[in-house]
Amino acid sequence: MIFAYGILLFAGATLAQDLPTFPKPRTQSTAWNLSFKFSPEQVKLGQLWPDLADSLETVLDWDRSQLANGGPSHDSFYTLDNVATPHSPGEVLKVQRVTDPSVWNIPAKTALSRFIYTTTNANGTLIPASSYILWPWTAKEFGTTSKGKAPVVLWSHGTSGFFADGSPSAHRSLFYHNIMPFMLAQAGYVVVASDYAGLGVNTSWDGSYVPHQYTNRLAQAFDSLNALRAARKIFPGKITDEYVNVGHSQGGAAAWGVSEVLADTSHYKFQDLEGDYLGSVIFAPAEDVLASAPQAFGSWIGKDLHLMYPDFKLSDWFTPLGVDRIKLLKQIQGGQYVSELLLLANATEVLKPTWNESWYATAFSEYTNPGNRPYKAPMLLFHGTDDNHGDAYNLSASAFESTCKNHYSGAFEFVTIPGTAHFPSMDASRQQWLQWIDDRFSGRPVGSKGCARSTLNSFLPVGSYQELSTSYPEWAGAPDEFFELVAGGF
Ligand SMILES: *[C@@H]1O[C@H](CO)[C@@H](O)[C@H](O)[C@H]1NC(C)=O
Ligand SMILES: *[C@@H]1O[C@H](CO)[C@@H](O)[C@H](O)[C@H]1NC(C)=O
Ligand SMILES: *[C@@H]1O[C@H](CO)[C@@H](O)[C@H](O)[C@H]1NC(C)=O
Ligand SMILES: *[C@@H]1O[C@H](CO)[C@@H](O)[C@H](O)[C@H]1NC(C)=O
Ligand SMILES: *[C@@H]1O[C@H](CO)[C@@H](O)[C@H](O)[C@H]1NC(C)=O
Ligand SMILES: *[C@@H]1O[C@H](CO)[C@@H](O)[C@H](O)[C@H]1NC(C)=O
Repeated sequence: MIFAYGILLFAGATLAQDLPTFPKPRTQSTAWNLSFKFSPEQVKLGQLWPDLADSLETVLDWDRSQLANGGPSHDSFYTLDNVATPHSPGEVLKVQRVTDPSVWNIPAKTALSRFIYTTTNANGTLIPASSYILWPWTAKEFGTTSKGKAPVVLWSHGTSGFFADGSPSAHRSLFYHNIMPFMLAQAGYVVVASDYAGLGVNTSWDGSYVPHQYTNRLAQAFDSLNALRAARKIFPGKITDEYVNVGHSQGGAAAWGVSEVLADTSHYKFQDLEGDYLGSVIFAPAEDVLASAPQAFGSWIGKDLHLMYPDFKLSDWFTPLGVDRIKLLKQIQGGQYVSELLLLANATEVLKPTWNESWYATAFSEYTNPGNRPYKAPMLLFHGTDDNHGDAYNLSASAFESTCKNHYSGAFEFVTIPGTAHFPSMDASRQQWLQWIDDRFSGRPVGSKGCARSTLNSFLPVGSYQELSTSYPEWAGAPDEFFELVAGGF
């Protein structure tokens, strides 16, 4: 094509008029007009020193550069206007059937939809949440199971933030980019993915604040299942009733929670979704996170814990400095790294040494840790032995063992991935989970009916491999910035 262009170039002045005009190339940047600066009041509130404030501003600007349309604070999609008061979970409140994808990083020939729907928080209060759907160009065919509809993967994401701006649907790369949603859509599945309540929409139809109940296994399981309900109402005939349930980290706990909710028919009312469940794939589920870095996890969980335990106060866990930093975190809608900088910078000064002596930490952990309950089989769990979250691999393995021992409910396989960290567990095992999902839609029997353990060894010695990704998909969507991608259209 380059050669053809050369010919065209020398073919004469009249033809040259038909050539595209090239914008002057501009250096790509993530700094799109962003220049967040803390106010003097915020510096005082957080007791920030100049270098800490500077680091926080850098990360905040970068995080905001990842938000399509400026994210929920600027994108009117996330605002509910004139919505009639809904009455049950799974109702559709707002739909964008085709989202203009030009400011997202989604792969060419995938399409995006967004919607807002009703769900319930951990204690049953009806609230709104947002969700995206990522569509394949062609739907993977599964004969009589799919009948031309797109096969559904219900995807539960890991920690993406704690406030409205933490919504994956507003993230240019849907937060998990190639690791999961892009890969699934390009393999022919339709991805239905809740943001989780509080991420995306933070104001309900009655004007009340919608918090994100972080790592709340049940709250997030409800959010995922209700998103599926709503998606079925919006796109009848387009998506299969059958679905495979997949999640990682916070979403690994949520996806495990989905299987527990579906198994516990005495408490939870999801009969409409039970029969079409084909199984769950869980990656590196969050177990006992509060104990691993209480300064950070305690702030994310504690900020809304009073919704479950009305007597709880942040000052039960945090010092006045800690409480103030969490106030600041909420003002700036800080994500994970911002919170960690803010709370771990003074790790010994923000948390009360006696924080874990109150009953709340134990009660919350027992309530929210996935496992040790009946589950809906089949389930497949992948965990890397080098999960960088403390003892995560061992906690997950022991939750698997005790679940199988005390609550065996059908096929459940635990796959150890040697020398593999928290996110790369999904990269290393891609062939295995894509095949497993294919097998469920194809109606093939699960290998073992029992609880089984296996190891996914690498082809070359473990030390030969790239350990972690060293890059992100980066939006360079202005014509003068994505020059090498289109090169004038050839
Ligand atoms: C940055 O601001 C300029 C001037 O307001 C505007 O034209 C441009 O579109 C902005 N860039 C982005 C990527 O938003
Ligand atoms: C809700 O989100 C908006 C937009 O992101 C933000 O400006 C606002 O401060 C948030 N409200 C609360 C109460 O946190
Ligand atoms: C919310 O649910 C938890 C777990 O079942 C329970 O311990 C708690 O008392 C409930 N809180 C409220 C406010 O109902
Ligand atoms: C927080 O840590 C910084 C850096 O070590 C220190 O200078 C500052 O005094 C600490 N702040 C408080 C309130 O302890
Ligand atoms: C609380 O945390 C401290 C420090 O991590 C630990 O030594 C102690 O055993 C914990 N106490 C309880 C009651 O869990
Ligand atoms: C996990 O358990 C193994 C075997 O009991 C032990 O050798 C290892 O140190 C544990 N890992 C962590 C991070 O505690």
